[in-house]
Amino acid sequence: MLKVMNIAGARPNFMKIAPIVAAMKRRASEFQPLVVHTGQHYDEAMSEAFFRDLDLPRPDVYLGVGSGTHAAQTAAVMQAFEPVVIKEKPDWAVVVGDVNSTLAGAIVCAKLHIKVAHVEAGLRSRDRSMPEEINRLLTDQVADLLLTPSRDGDANLRAEGIPEARVRFVGNVMIDSLMTQLDRARQSSVLKTLELQEKSYAVLTLHRPSNVDEQTAFIRILDALELISERLPIVFPAHPRTRKMIDELGLGPRVQSIKDLRVVDPIGYLDFLRLESCARLVLTDSGGIQEETTVLGIPCIPRRENTERPITVEMGTNPIAGTDTNQIVAAAPRALDNPLPDSNVRIPEFWDGRTADRILDALIECSSDRGV
Ligand code: UD1
Ligand code: UDP
Repeated sequence: MLKVMNIAGARPNFMKIAPIVAAMKRRASEFQPLVVHTGQHYDEAMSEAFFRDLDLPRPDVYLGVGSGTHAAQTAAVMQAFEPVVIKEKPDWAVVVGDVNSTLAGAIVCAKLHIKVAHVEAGLRSRDRSMPEEINRLLTDQVADLLLTPSRDGDANLRAEGIPEARVRFVGNVMIDSLMTQLDRARQSSVLKTLELQEKSYAVLTLHRPSNVDEQTAFIRILDALELISERLPIVFPAHPRTRKMIDELGLGPRVQSIKDLRVVDPIGYLDFLRLESCARLVLTDSGGIQEETTVLGIPCIPRRENTERPITVEMGTNPIAGTDTNQIVAAAPRALDNPLPDSNVRIPEFWDGRTADRILDALIECSSDRGV
């Protein structure tokens, strides 16, 4: 029996640990799962809502670290988490994604000689100005088992000299959640509540510091949105960072001046899946949403200069549009006027809803293999 500590802290972590914890509960003779929530995200709409929607058991441990600078937040997680690991002595810690809680959890466990498995290993944007890229590089260095979502991840790790024995290609666990919850999401009344018709609106999400923390970049994006909103209304569930920056940068009046841009609070997982899967177009800088639109076959314009997820571009739904107004505005009509036929939707290898079980199999295999 393996005692496994599953660490989550921010919104995109919850849909990654949910299928892993559910699979461990199904395989109860092999696994004893514990859930640790660092509290990096803490608003009801960024945290609690996901535990409900994803049927995630309440965390066994809540660290409650909250917001802070990168150093303060990472250190706060490490300090609060260390005594928990010392007390629980798990066989493995599973960390997911690339947020500060991921790196903090991995470092604490590595120094206490607890084996670390990193889910979503090997992704690289090659842009070290992104805090997530630093988190990815360092987490992969200290983790014992690197579980990649796509073959490009394996190649990146190989190029960094990480031994093959530490790497397993398992696929994308976020898609396990999507496939499990899509039927339930169809019951959502979000379209009715927001008075939207299927395939007649765009969904926008935006939270990267490079897009929202700097006035010039944010204004360029708003200029592009104004032009796109002349073709179809845009619904914008705004991340708390983005809300805060709209206020701090004095952009409230500019946002309000865009008639068909509707800002709403962050939306729960099931409602968001419904909103996303019925959209005509998705505009986003979210890594997870780029992956979900790839599987759903929804045209998606990532507002990014680069991506750590090249497979979402290769599959055809996500051209990289950059942050330049002209590029974004040119990409939108291309996506709107040339919808991808359903028959052309290409699902990446192992994005099949069965990644959690492959992760569990890898943990078992590598527990007996002292070479890992
Ligand atoms: C974090 C991750 C990012 C991920 C994103 C997903 C890091 C470095 N960044 O970015 O990779 O894509 O989550 O959503 O880990 N805030 C609230 N309520 C909350 C949470 C945050 O008001 O529940 C506000 C606070 O003002 C906070 C700010 O949002 O300072 C930023 O939060 P933080 O967790 O530091 O980074 P994110 O931008 O959310
Ligand atoms: N998401 C959600 N509600 C929202 C915005 C996003 O449920 O209002 C979900 C989305 O479907 C995906 C995940 O949150 O599963 C992506 O998280 P986020 O964009 O915060 O982080 P990233 O993937 O960029 O790290």
